[in-house]
Amino acid sequence: MSTQTNFDLVLFGATGDLAMRKLLPCLYQAHVAGLLHPQGRILGVSRSQLDAEGFLSKVETNSKIHVKQNFSDDQWASFIKRLHYLTVDVTNAADFDALAATVKARTETENVIVYLSTAPKFFAQACENLANVGLNAANVRVVLEKPLGTDLASSQQINTDVARYFKEEQIYRIDHYLGKESLQNLLALRFANVMFEPLWNNKYIKSVQLTIAEQLGVEERGEFYDITGALRDMIQNHLMQMLCMTAMEAPASLDADDVRDEKVKVIKSLKPLTVESVNENVVRGQYTAAAGMNGYLEELNVPAGSFTETYVAIKAEIENERWKGVPFYLRTGKRMAGKVAEIVLNFRDLGDHIFENSQAAPNRLVIELQPNESVRLYTQVKTPGAGFKVETAALGIDLGKAVAGRRQEAYERLLLDVINGKLGLFNRRDELEAAWEYVMPILENWADNTQAPHGYAAHSWGPEAARELLARDGNKWHEEQ
Ligand code: BG6
Repeated sequence: MSTQTNFDLVLFGATGDLAMRKLLPCLYQAHVAGLLHPQGRILGVSRSQLDAEGFLSKVETNSKIHVKQNFSDDQWASFIKRLHYLTVDVTNAADFDALAATVKARTETENVIVYLSTAPKFFAQACENLANVGLNAANVRVVLEKPLGTDLASSQQINTDVARYFKEEQIYRIDHYLGKESLQNLLALRFANVMFEPLWNNKYIKSVQLTIAEQLGVEERGEFYDITGALRDMIQNHLMQMLCMTAMEAPASLDADDVRDEKVKVIKSLKPLTVESVNENVVRGQYTAAAGMNGYLEELNVPAGSFTETYVAIKAEIENERWKGVPFYLRTGKRMAGKVAEIVLNFRDLGDHIFENSQAAPNRLVIELQPNESVRLYTQVKTPGAGFKVETAALGIDLGKAVAGRRQEAYERLLLDVINGKLGLFNRRDELEAAWEYVMPILENWADNTQAPHGYAAHSWGPEAARELLARDGNKWHEEQ
């Protein structure tokens, strides 16, 4: 079924990495699946002086390799009929007249989506320039890519600036982790199954681990990465969203604001860190050369002696009735031993066992978001034969196989939601600012640059200090369990 309303999608940063790797390939998938209105147009916009042909050939060479499923020359040929290109310098108000003329030429009741896949420092000016030519009317939605600012103050400033021209319900702040099926599946797992929700609390759960580990290093992104770091790139947004989805109370409904209200409550219930408590509860790491791979400091465009973190682990605590006393360990890193995003709930030990091996491992629920999408519940079963020993075996659901239907990539789902005006999977201003507020003491602690990050060998599971962070509580990271 195609989207209900005809649309123009104006894509700023159309020749950039995200557009080529994700946005355009995902729009192509939606096109093939028949989910785009037949007349829907995609207008690529950037500073590059290209004509439509030049743009199409760039899209073709770059983004075709990233189309993962259903590639067909015929479909591609029909998809690119939707694509148009316009040179616009986001900082040049005069360029927006041509943009307005192109877009307004056919829209009155149709939707206009303006996707700002640009550096956040351009958001305010882009919105002002859009508003000057009337491209902030009620039928216009603006999509803001992360990172939204570099700290709480700059994020508030961007939000205030954008709010001058757009109402909150017109603003779609993207965090692509929210578009992942397996993260959304958490709501089903928790709130549609009687056996999970009653156990989802501090009486039964001892600790929770949230991990996004990547094997790649910073690749060609050294310049961007060095001023960003893992805390701003991954923790403030993706890990925070995973935490919210894991820990939130049941929303009154699946309406955007009901879900977002519950997520904000989780972030606001986090025990605030202080500049001093960061030393105890946060580990900052940076990968070092190993196994023929560069260390971070040898990567392209990384300044000598940089302290930028490529790894962060945090022990967080949620101070509410459900979670008091349960540590939530969050971690992310580049150049780690494996690529995995997962949520691990470690259940409490049952106490005295009647079985021969009383040390049988407690239950563990592992929700894997990638590379596989699965749910595994580690349970105790009897070891065959004489005697009565128990051992661990997993009850598992491979979500890709167990449930029929095409699984959309995160960006496809989110782009379709913007086109269809569904705000549920996007961040609200208060949510985003609460997340910045939580990480601010970490940034302040690190700002004096007196303590170098802990080194960890490329393709390892992170610094020793992160192991110690858990060992202090008698816990271990998942790969060691
Ligand atoms: C992006 C970060 O938001 O998420 C990247 O900027 C990171 O540094 C990426 O690699 C990870 O996304 P995914 O979906 O591949 O886990």
